[in-house]
Amino acid sequence: MTATTAEREATAAGVDVIGTLDGFSTRLDDERRAGRTVGVVLTMGALHRGHAALVARAAAECDVVAVTVFVNPTQFAQSADLSDYPRSPGADVDVAGAAGASVVFAPSVDEMYPGWPAPPATTVSVRNLTDRWEGASRPGHFEGVATVVVKLLSAAGRCRTYFGEKDFQQLAVVRRAVADLSLPVTVVGCPTVRDEDGLALSSRNLRLSADERAAAPVLHRALCAGAAALAAGGDREAVERAVTDTVATEPLVALDYAALVDACDLEPADDPTSDRPLRLLVAATVGPVRLIDNLDPRRPR
Ligand code: PAJ
Repeated sequence: MTATTAEREATAAGVDVIGTLDGFSTRLDDERRAGRTVGVVLTMGALHRGHAALVARAAAECDVVAVTVFVNPTQFAQSADLSDYPRSPGADVDVAGAAGASVVFAPSVDEMYPGWPAPPATTVSVRNLTDRWEGASRPGHFEGVATVVVKLLSAAGRCRTYFGEKDFQQLAVVRRAVADLSLPVTVVGCPTVRDEDGLALSSRNLRLSADERAAAPVLHRALCAGAAALAAGGDREAVERAVTDTVATEPLVALDYAALVDACDLEPADDPTSDRPLRLLVAATVGPVRLIDNLDPRRPR
């Protein structure tokens, strides 16, 4: 087979770019057969320092790291959001390689969903955990996420996989799907990487205008205000009000929800004085972009 220019460059950088599910599975099977442990980082590309931190953590804990780059159409409700999603395939291979990956799996839509745009008949849906928050605001989103994650992890086989706490509900959904379907996979949650002004890194930040980018860090300030309200003895309503009031100071940012939840089942935390782990979630629209963020309100950072 003749290598394309991108493949030759990728190989020169020490990264093998694979386009088929069979090639991906076979490669990781070979690595395990040679006695190497495998780490996998699933992404939609446009890689930034947040993704790179997951790859670096995987490289520190596993012998071989594979990064998947696939803009998954089934998790987007609006076709505009899908077509506007930033793509940078060449740079992604460089970022993945520099952070410690030696395999990039970048399949086509047809490879993942033969017959697309007809959706797959078999999907993965995770009940209860997906009823609220992002699940309520983005119907069908988590079914698309869970389905593609299970497809990719099934192809990867036995591995450790690294997910960001930035998408906290997604992390909970993935943990649950992996456990319920008995996949031979260990899910590792990793802290959110932020810009210096507190804004959580996201591929979507690229679509913010300069004014919107300047306004967006209000989300992190709002989460910190909520954490301060909790530390001052506030109940759930007081904590959520502190978040809401802080976001309201920024006219370019429209709040979707602010929620103090149990970190395990993501139900509203009506007794924040209990020992249960907590999470403070926020979602808002900034110009054309929907942003989410969260933190542990007992250990804000
Ligand atoms: P994507 O948004 O590209 O994110 C890929 C992984 O990077 C996710 O685990 C996400 O939580 C993590 N991540 C993103 N920003 C981060 C940050 N600032 N700090 C730490 N980790 C961060 O999430 C998806 O893609 C998709 O839904 C996917 C799981 C790949 C399924 O299509």
